[in-house]
Amino acid sequence: MIIFLIGFMGSGKTTLGKQLASKLSYRFIDQDEVIEQKYQMTVSEIFAKHGEEEFRRAENEALRELVKRENCVIATGGGAPCFHNNMELMNESGFTIYIKVDPKIIVQRLKDAHTSRPLIKDKSETELLAYTQQKIAERSPFYSRSKLVLYSKSLTVDDILRALEDVGMKG
Ligand code: S3P
Repeated sequence: MIIFLIGFMGSGKTTLGKQLASKLSYRFIDQDEVIEQKYQMTVSEIFAKHGEEEFRRAENEALRELVKRENCVIATGGGAPCFHNNMELMNESGFTIYIKVDPKIIVQRLKDAHTSRPLIKDKSETELLAYTQQKIAERSPFYSRSKLVLYSKSLTVDDILRALEDVGMKG
């Protein structure tokens, strides 16, 4: 089985994804890293050199390869579900979990770690909050098509495991 973690930047997909993969004895894959390896560039460099459209195309291409894997947890890029047919592709190929986090919490997490994220790199904290709120509103229709939506102030890997058990996806 493939588990896709979906959600905005700073929602904890990578941290929780690594923990979840370890608990399930699955492999952890970071979609952004797959793209970075292919281009031999950081996501910021890809945006700067080739533009967002090319990055979104690369995201779709990476995903089409990744859905062929088995037994892995994939942390997807924050925008990935909203472009091409990525959300459908993920729902057809595995179990999608939307990690929903309050915009204010996201901003607290992102404000000191946003230079590596091209879409928010020049924003002040106030601008970041407005941007995050607006983008999450825009992206929610995509994110919400996930098979499971988890909303918590401090989601832990055990919460995810319990939720997977509740929907009959584990054990
Ligand atoms: C993006 C999120 C990033 C990365 C790129 C674009 C977005 O991934 O794919 O900077 O559009 O929200 P993370 O969610 O892993 O930060």
